[in-house]
Amino acid sequence: MFNIIPQPVSILINQDRKGFTLHAGTTISPYPFAEEFASFVRKTLNKKVYLHEDTGEERSIILKIDESIEHDEGYTIKCENRRVFINARTETGLFYGLQTLKQMLLQTDGKLPYVELTDYPRFSYRGFMLDCGRYFYTVDEIKRIVDLMALHKLNVLHWHLTEDQGWRIEIKKYPLLTEKGSKRSHTNFNNKPHSGYYTQDQVKEIVAYCHDRKIKVIPEFDVPGHNVASIACYPELSCLDRKLEVATHWGVKHDILCAGKESTYKFVYDVLDELIELFPDKIIHIGGDEAPKTRWCECDKCKEKLNELGLVNMDQLQGYLANEAAAYLKKKGKKAICWNEAIKGGNVEKDNITVALWRDKTKASIEWANGGNPLIAECFTPYYVDYPYGMHPLKSVYMFEPRKIHGLTSLGGASVIGVESPIWTEYVTSFEKMTYLCFPRWLAVAETGWNNVNKKGYAKFIKTAEFFCDILKGMGITPAPKEYW
Ligand code: ACM
Ligand code: ZN
Repeated sequence: MFNIIPQPVSILINQDRKGFTLHAGTTISPYPFAEEFASFVRKTLNKKVYLHEDTGEERSIILKIDESIEHDEGYTIKCENRRVFINARTETGLFYGLQTLKQMLLQTDGKLPYVELTDYPRFSYRGFMLDCGRYFYTVDEIKRIVDLMALHKLNVLHWHLTEDQGWRIEIKKYPLLTEKGSKRSHTNFNNKPHSGYYTQDQVKEIVAYCHDRKIKVIPEFDVPGHNVASIACYPELSCLDRKLEVATHWGVKHDILCAGKESTYKFVYDVLDELIELFPDKIIHIGGDEAPKTRWCECDKCKEKLNELGLVNMDQLQGYLANEAAAYLKKKGKKAICWNEAIKGGNVEKDNITVALWRDKTKASIEWANGGNPLIAECFTPYYVDYPYGMHPLKSVYMFEPRKIHGLTSLGGASVIGVESPIWTEYVTSFEKMTYLCFPRWLAVAETGWNNVNKKGYAKFIKTAEFFCDILKGMGITPAPKEYW
């Protein structure tokens, strides 16, 4: 039996019938993403696979678009008579078929029995959020993590790019954001300076790399909180024109973008304009988490805005700001995601926003989903993988059921479009630390994102996870040792 993560919907094996053996000289249909498969096989199994049109020869891997397959990301694999057939409705499905094939080949040293496999995902949104605001990961490190996402059939990179502690993306209209805003004098972690940003060309390179692996990239521009770095560059963005330095320590900051000044709205739209150009997937994350209203309550402009709009409290002013940003995106053909705090005021327009639930004492996000509006489950417990295994153990990640979050009705459960596991990086100051925290917990997130809940079995999963961690080690990744899980 094969150990495949995430487990496929169905697999039938017949040891008595002829299967497939990878040879030097195996060919694969020449889709661009087949290169990635060929290079993986060369590195891990030391066999050369050539991209070539199907000639009907033995020893070939044949990829075929097949409209009869129902799910957009679904695929079938058939290994028989020394050939592998992967059929899918879309190229994404073919790509996933190859990810599964990779995992099977690794387990058998390239020799497969007769196999019939059918597979498709449970959720359309299977995300990983990487905080590059606290710690700056290089382009190559991001590419390595993207490769791992693809292997686990995760399909959304939520790229957290703006923070109190660092603005990480070049915005041509506001050059100070990176000249000054990407540098902090020291960190919580080691008291040393830390800096870095992605040029627009590097952003395009990462987006293209993700697209080659069928991964969408959703950038996050956090509004109105977590903006000390941008305020340090442009003090007029804050309520009281505060002169600040880029934050050195993490935690929730009182100085946020002023919601009373027209210039703030212009700043938000200008940044969104550049993000829209750089990120062709249809969604932009507009943040909204942890935005205390201390300064807004002291600011004449914010108070005036609230009165002028007839709003009842500052949470509604945050809702108004989210609405304005979402409406701007809608005009440009894009959708918005926001953190659950943004909807606390109860006035957020429902037609263009998806809510990401991380922690919500008010239950506004539960009501949101129960009203049939889309929700992404990325609950602090247990999905925040920057927290230690002792707090968010593998079993709790595996057992987490996104459609049964407390308070969700059946309509609420059906409104959950997927899962996402975030990593916040104030203390995650290397690629090795990141992967140690992610693995094996990602395996559980991938299972939940892809599989139907009624197939869950922790004992079996653990066996697969042990096996899979060996595969990861072979790829130069160090998962947490089992005693920590
Ligand atoms: C968050 O963890 N502040 C979304
Ligand atoms: Zn203000």
